[in-house]
Amino acid sequence: MASAPPVALTSPDYCNWNPEDASFPEQFAWGASTAAYQIEGGWNADGKGPSTWDTFTHQAGDRVFENQTGDVACSSYTLWEEDLKCIKQLGLTHYRFSLSWSRLLPDGTTGFINQKGVDYYDKMIDSLLANGVTPMVTLYHFDLPQSLEDRGGWRSSATVEAFEAYAQFCFRTFGDRVKLWITINEPYVVAELGYEKGTMAPGVKAPGTGAYLSAHNMIKAHASAWHAYDKLFRKQHGGLVSIALNSDWAEPFHPNSPADHEAAKRHIGFCLDWFATPIFLNGDYPAIMKSKISAMSKKQGYSSSRLPEFTEEEKMTIKGTADFFSLNYYTTRKIKNQDSSCSQPSTTEDKEAEEVTDPSWPVATGSSWLAVVPWGLRHLLKYIKDTYNHPIIYITENGFSQSDPAPLDDSQRWEYFRLTLQEILKAIYIDSVQVRGYFVWSLLDNFEWSCGYSSRFGLFHVDFENAALPRVPYRSAIEYARVIANNKLMNSHE
Ligand code: BGC
Repeated sequence: MASAPPVALTSPDYCNWNPEDASFPEQFAWGASTAAYQIEGGWNADGKGPSTWDTFTHQAGDRVFENQTGDVACSSYTLWEEDLKCIKQLGLTHYRFSLSWSRLLPDGTTGFINQKGVDYYDKMIDSLLANGVTPMVTLYHFDLPQSLEDRGGWRSSATVEAFEAYAQFCFRTFGDRVKLWITINEPYVVAELGYEKGTMAPGVKAPGTGAYLSAHNMIKAHASAWHAYDKLFRKQHGGLVSIALNSDWAEPFHPNSPADHEAAKRHIGFCLDWFATPIFLNGDYPAIMKSKISAMSKKQGYSSSRLPEFTEEEKMTIKGTADFFSLNYYTTRKIKNQDSSCSQPSTTEDKEAEEVTDPSWPVATGSSWLAVVPWGLRHLLKYIKDTYNHPIIYITENGFSQSDPAPLDDSQRWEYFRLTLQEILKAIYIDSVQVRGYFVWSLLDNFEWSCGYSSRFGLFHVDFENAALPRVPYRSAIEYARVIANNKLMNSHE
């Protein structure tokens, strides 16, 4: 086993209770997650239409590590049986994957349905169920059909309508067997990196407006899909629908600075609460976002706030449209208050908060942004419990990347997972948070967006140089399987 972890990894309020002695609750969902574009390959196979990520990676430029693409990726489109073997080897109770919208509906609309795409997902869902594994299905994980993007993408209300029709199609086609649905994965990332900074597909750079407009439409799209399920399918299928929200935990840089405390709140306010406040609480954006963006817009000479407004009717429609809380957690930041110069409109300027990474925190070797702070997850879970009326929470993504080449003996990484699982136990038993499941990101090494294949998040190593794309378990996979089999953390000698 790896040597003892640095002190900073343990929770500051650690008590004598030993999480290693506690079991996870009965029926705890043990999962792993993937996303279509990151693993499937088969980018134009059997009638699939192009997505924004196909376009983004095929355009020349240095936006992706070594100009890599997801054209082949793990080839899960042809190698599903190999993925299933990995799932069974882990003993997962749940598997979270996403549907490729343009594999099912090549131009994004229900005008033409690609039966081969339906067959592929039918096969996956049926074999998961036949093996006692519950599918959790994400409708949209960053790969918008290109034809919808050509008509404005998430900046257009036409995409809201197209999403509702797509969601209904998926509920109708797969809902007899799929009972856990995620509408949109991480709308924050799509808005901020896809339509504000342009570092992810579709690569739009519209600072100060792009993120707010696209987020506005994604919230409406989510709400319409939830209502469609509620009205047309819930009675018959009895499933649950949510949206996967990502967030850092934020600590004030100077613990005694009230300004840094407020800035830390804004860091979460402009990320998690941006989506969770309307969806879980009141149909509207957090007050702090509304006031900051409105004031900043005014100073910049805009006639109205750059943050769009929901009508009263829309607020009523958006409020209460999630059946559980789906949280993706990776890291924690220290936050300093930063007065904005107001010169250039941007979400970062609006937030007036500077992110700092504590140099004492270890960093995942494959992602410079991923400071490893397991206790941050416990704080975030408690925050969600207190702020959002004690919801049922599934941690739908959490993980730590290794750089390439990645050693199969990833003991240090498993130590990070183990400490994270301890924090979840503390959240459950000390803080009474209703955590119902934990999903590792990711089942396989895969196409890690702008990092290509250089950043490896898998429980299984994939050799991308070998045409057979063999999957081999890291040590973390073997340890995770032991935890799942026992429903508790195991001491190294057990
Ligand atoms: C995304 C995944 C991604 C992971 C690691 C999450 O934001 O949902 O698609 O691979 O983080 O960066």
